[in-house]
Amino acid sequence: MSGQSLSLRMVTLHLNEYEISIGEMGQPLRTLVAEGNYSKIAVLVDANTRRHCLPYFLQNIDFEVVAIEIPAGERFKNLDICRFIWSEMMRHGLDRRSLLINLGGGVIGDMGGFCAATYLRGIDFVQVPTTLLSQVDASVGGKLAIDFNGVKNSIGVFQNPKAVLVDPTFLKTLPLTEIRSGFAEVFKHALIADAAQWQELQQITDLMVVDWAKFLAPSLSIKKRIVVESIDFGNWEF
Ligand SMILES: NC(=O)c1ccc[n+]([C@@H]2O[C@H](COP(=O)([O-])OP(=O)(O)OC[C@H]3O[C@@H](n4cnc5c(N)ncnc54)[C@H](O)[C@@H]3O)[C@@H](O)[C@H]2O)c1
Repeated sequence: MSGQSLSLRMVTLHLNEYEISIGEMGQPLRTLVAEGNYSKIAVLVDANTRRHCLPYFLQNIDFEVVAIEIPAGERFKNLDICRFIWSEMMRHGLDRRSLLINLGGGVIGDMGGFCAATYLRGIDFVQVPTTLLSQVDASVGGKLAIDFNGVKNSIGVFQNPKAVLVDPTFLKTLPLTEIRSGFAEVFKHALIADAAQWQELQQITDLMVVDWAKFLAPSLSIKKRIVVESIDFGNWEF
């Protein structure tokens, strides 16, 4: 575990077992795919991320990928959809050396991570969060779950991804309600531990014209600190 390294466009946060890359996703994604020597790569999308995020994603990967599409929304974060995802992974021939890339918000990240962590006793997965909430919160920490019998996040596992790629480009198509929901998380992180960011956030008058890129690394650093402290103290209830 260590600190943080800053280059011209990319910030990298290091956790125990994986890195969070903040910036344009192309270079870290290509490196990860080249180093992983994967037999097959599938990308999990929902109806919205297929439309808004998949084209940009495909521009940044030079490996053939199969897309698995599920319906969008929390009400589909359930066992029936998991069964569909596992079936699709089997149908496309994903094996122990395959990779699942979760391209979407917290629902895709939680459910795709859970499906990858349990398929063939666990295959590699990468989180590519596309909502503000999932970029600053849900994609980090290794908590993976689905809703069951009406109880939210009641079935799941803890498993870290190979990497988290946080690319602010995806936020351009996010509707106001989703920006607002992520903003609450950014605000919370600043309230906990970043007085300067807290001051800056208070100047915002229109959420739809904010350059979120500059808020991602500070917010994620705070989330990372909470995750690391929780692991160090053997407490996963963060
Ligand atoms: N694992 C964790 O630590 C953790 C933490 C917080 C929340 N969560 C989970 O995250 C989920 C909520 O995540 P969310 O708020 O991202 O919801 P979500 O995944 O349902 O996404 C919200 C909506 O935005 C759409 N969308 C996603 N990216 C888009 C884009 N770039 N452009 C346009 N539309 C886009 C989605 O299709 C969806 O309709 C909940 O299930 C919650 O339990 C998990």
